[in-house]
Amino acid sequence: MNQMIQSGFLSQEVSNFVSKTHHLFINNKMVAAKSGETFAVLNPANGEKIADVPHANPEDVDDAVRAARAAFESGPWARMTPVDRGKLVWRLGDLIEKHADELAQLESLDNGKPITAARGVDLNFGVELLRYMGGWSTKILGNSVPVSLEGDWHAYTMREPVGVCAQIVPWNYPLLMAIWKIAPALAAGCTMVLKPAEQTPLSALRLAEIIAEAGIPEGVVNIVTGDGRTGAALVEHPDVDKVAFTGSTDTGKRIMKTGADTVKKVSLELGGKSPAIVFPDAEMDVTIPGLATGIFFNAGQSCTASSRIFAHKSVYDKVVAGLEAEANKAIIGPGLDPSTTLGPITSDEQFQKVCGYIDAGRNDGAEIVFGGKRWGNEGYFVEPTVLANTTNDMSVIREEIFGPVVCVIPFGDDDGHDELVQKANDTDFGLGASVFTRDIGHAHKLARRIKAGTVWINTHLPNDVALPFGGYKQSGYGREMGFEAVELYTQVKTVLAKL
Ligand code: NAI
Ligand code: MG
Repeated sequence: MNQMIQSGFLSQEVSNFVSKTHHLFINNKMVAAKSGETFAVLNPANGEKIADVPHANPEDVDDAVRAARAAFESGPWARMTPVDRGKLVWRLGDLIEKHADELAQLESLDNGKPITAARGVDLNFGVELLRYMGGWSTKILGNSVPVSLEGDWHAYTMREPVGVCAQIVPWNYPLLMAIWKIAPALAAGCTMVLKPAEQTPLSALRLAEIIAEAGIPEGVVNIVTGDGRTGAALVEHPDVDKVAFTGSTDTGKRIMKTGADTVKKVSLELGGKSPAIVFPDAEMDVTIPGLATGIFFNAGQSCTASSRIFAHKSVYDKVVAGLEAEANKAIIGPGLDPSTTLGPITSDEQFQKVCGYIDAGRNDGAEIVFGGKRWGNEGYFVEPTVLANTTNDMSVIREEIFGPVVCVIPFGDDDGHDELVQKANDTDFGLGASVFTRDIGHAHKLARRIKAGTVWINTHLPNDVALPFGGYKQSGYGREMGFEAVELYTQVKTVLAKL
């Protein structure tokens, strides 16, 4: 870290935060984990330890859930007007904006992502989402419902907050995923216990301080750090009403099963293997950067990464050469260096996994057109990698790699609409997909038939605060952002009065 401070990449302020003794955040207080157990947080750019963070055990989780329950049932939050709730959510957005440079540095240090992306995307998006969601708090409506029963009746519905929510997030966009979870839950009037990923807990711990600074009442947002055991304790807890999870499909399945014991409401945003289809008429100046951003942004650690590219044989060579050129342009280095465009993979485990997939692809007969190796000799860097000659049974095509590794597959004139739809949908996942063409009719027809929660046309990856985001098939269910995200944190009550 000292090296980073000396180079001017890391501020003393952020370094001081990282070096301090970290705590769990329960009832707006920083508390030590009961067991005293901690775990190490590593810098993915060099593998060095940067902090120790408390590991919350089931007793700590119970304290956090109790705090959230108390705040939900009584106290200022339970009585707060929608306008005041909205103001607090907005104020949280303002404070995050005020601390955005510092938070971006922290995120870049912990996760490895380029500082420019952390600041320009994660932080900006998070602030916008808080403002957007703050606006919904006053617009959560019920209906007045005409009923057909005999006699005089008055019937109406209302949307009530679902209660105490456990929110478990991954390490690819640590702070942004935390905000995706807490912003709609706050707007809806829920209380929550957030668990960041064990690989990247630091920005959530700084967020805890900012939540207290914003004046959000105690117990409304609690933050507990720990690994999957802490997450499991939250899912098992009988007093948690809802679990919102983003992460792997395997862990999502486990959460559904465990949540069934207490009939928790569960929403899941899981993995992806998103297809991108490039037609002969596609504008290459738009297509190549779109595809490259889709797979190389965030070192490919995006659940909607454009990891399966189907290119018409007449443009196949151009697509491969274009991706190669984009990969060649990547400036690989520590995220904190402002010139970096491709940072390290976030953890050693994920680094090994990505390298393992590249080896598997090579052994299965795929051609490595570009990259395919570790970069440098410290940290968890992987070269941007372009694979050709892949077949549909290879693990590089079937499984989520979650790294900067893309497979390009040609298709021919005998592949009509039906065949392309079949190829795009030949996956267990259904999170994102894209179509690159100038034929708008064609694009919209495909958009209807591809089984994915988001279909992009002539782009791949962008999200917006107002656009519902989530999965089809084994990519999960429930939608984040848009009003759909607020709905996810509410339940409908019917009131029927005999007059
Ligand atoms: P994971 O799904 O195991 O971890 C995500 C979060 O779930 C973390 O906070 C973790 O502590 C928690 N968790 C783990 N086990 C749990 C359990 N039994 N109950 C409750 N919470 C639990 O993902 P992991 O192991 O970090 O990554 C594995 C793969 O998952 C990656 O290689 C990638 O393919 C995929 N992934 C997908 C993400 C997405 O955005 N869809 C994000 C992160 C990973
Ligand atoms: Mg795991």
